Amino acid sequence: MEKPLVFITRRLALAPHAVLGTGIEVDQHDEDTLLPRDELLRRVRQATALLPVPGDRVDKEVLEAAPRLRIVANHAVGYDNVDVPACTARAVWVTNTPGVLTDATADLAWALILALARRLREGEAMIRSGAFRGWAPTMLLGRDLRGRTLGILGYGRIGRAVARRAEGFGMRVLFSSRGGGVALEELLEQSDVLSIHCPLNANTRHLIGGAELLRMKRGALLINTARGPIVDEAALVAALRKGHLGGAGLDVFEEEPAVHPGLLSRDDVVLLPHLGSATVETRESMARIALEQVERVLRGERPSTPVNEVSAR
Ligand code: GLV
Repeated sequence: MEKPLVFITRRLALAPHAVLGTGIEVDQHDEDTLLPRDELLRRVRQATALLPVPGDRVDKEVLEAAPRLRIVANHAVGYDNVDVPACTARAVWVTNTPGVLTDATADLAWALILALARRLREGEAMIRSGAFRGWAPTMLLGRDLRGRTLGILGYGRIGRAVARRAEGFGMRVLFSSRGGGVALEELLEQSDVLSIHCPLNANTRHLIGGAELLRMKRGALLINTARGPIVDEAALVAALRKGHLGGAGLDVFEEEPAVHPGLLSRDDVVLLPHLGSATVETRESMARIALEQVERVLRGERPSTPVNEVSAR
């Protein structure tokens, strides 16, 4: 009998066979670079399992190209890149990698908060350009965090982990989420730092647009380590240009990997290439979980991190 085949769309932090049994054949785009769409469509054809990353759109076209597919094991906690209802309709499991990236992502949100509040990017640039001429009382002054309000939009695992860290910095925490907290309007009006931690879906796309940005306090900081399209990037550039916001720390972008040109030239933004979960330990755990889901489903078992429900076929 032919072995089942998993197509893995990137290099992983673990060798696939460290997790997968020998009964599964592996085809892997063993690179850090984007997988061209036509190559995804071609290589998924014989696959019984697909292991994509957030940059890969798994839509009806991909599913139609892959009639043997039984699982899409997304290498991420977010799964907005996968058409879940279309997978369910074809009895294809969709799984994610929850839990293991909570601390790494919360840490990165704080790295962005601190980088903005204390102007790390400008300080670094000053040294490298040779412009640093010695300590000066009014040079590159940032803002204290103690006593200020941190607003958390989306209060799941990562939002809560960001909130826990706020205690150490002496910040007051407010949150707004589907399940409770304050109304979005109040969160926007009260926060000195607003950090986004909700999933991207039809309800949250452009949730933070021009009106919401103007509702934020003058000088407030916006942090996004969730998904780019939750923020209207053009409206964000406009709010920064007006001087309404104090700055933005962004790990995710609307048209990733492209970045709005209006952000690139600004001193009051810190831009990172989607590094939220990028630690050795976390990426190994994510790869392990995704590969385990492939193994389970191809063995005929139920996955342990499903985001949909599929009846036996
Ligand atoms: C990464 O962006 C993830 O959702 O895990």
